[in-house]
Amino acid sequence: MKIISSIEELRDQLRGQLRTAFVPTMGNLHEGHLSLMRLARRHGDPVVASIFVNRLQFGPNEDFDKYPRTFQSDAEKLEKEGVYVLFAPTEKDLYPEPQEYRVRPPDYLGNTLEGEFRPGTFIGVTTVVLKLFSCVQPKVAIFGKKDYQQLMIINNMSKQFALPTEIIAAETWRAEDGLALSSRNGYLSEAERAEAPVLYQTLNEVANEVRNGNLNLFALEKMAMDKLAQRHWNPDYVSIRKRADLQAPSAADLAQNVELVVLTAAKLGNTRLIDNLEI
Ligand code: PAF
Repeated sequence: MKIISSIEELRDQLRGQLRTAFVPTMGNLHEGHLSLMRLARRHGDPVVASIFVNRLQFGPNEDFDKYPRTFQSDAEKLEKEGVYVLFAPTEKDLYPEPQEYRVRPPDYLGNTLEGEFRPGTFIGVTTVVLKLFSCVQPKVAIFGKKDYQQLMIINNMSKQFALPTEIIAAETWRAEDGLALSSRNGYLSEAERAEAPVLYQTLNEVANEVRNGNLNLFALEKMAMDKLAQRHWNPDYVSIRKRADLQAPSAADLAQNVELVVLTAAKLGNTRLIDNLEI
């Protein structure tokens, strides 16, 4: 596996490759990321992964500085997965001058849910993803459903800019107790880790109510928020949305059995976890 940090060298290395499958990451790789590498392998060749903790998508009081950086063990894992190139730019490589041009998702998608609680985060995500795509020029790129809103925003960006990169969605990888794998799980204490699966259990309870015909979505969301709060979580949202555009469904939408997804973000101690479940 070649480890490359400069954009120029990356372009030299990948020149002429027409079927590159790309998996962008922020490192601290777990089994969920590795499953994305395997999916990438099925959709293209060579597989290129990137590791870059993107300052632009973190708020001023978020965990950019303490975000886990485990480059050596990440590189070993990627090598074992048969990754051809690991693109690991420094901030100077990727942002040699202040990144003044940014991609702004439409407000209805970018400022809701995660965007409401982490203002501007998706501008940071789309900007870096567009730039990484420009560097790697992949035929396909893999994004996990764990970051459901991110996946949708990137998919729409790729379509609206007619990017030559097909976006492929990967299922969320879960621990046996249901907790979605995330680099941020490493922040949890032992007691918090034991409590953490309650987030996914709560999503399942909401989803089952809806599947059983309970369409009082507001009450269901409130029930879930109250339950988490009682268990000493600090929930930002539990929200049932349309899968197609992440907007709240109208009565007419519900009457037509529109496809739904329930999404949540909640803090457990100092750790903010997100998860979602298609209903
Ligand atoms: O999902 C992530 O890890 C990041 O948001 C991404 C897509 C690598 C952009 O920095």
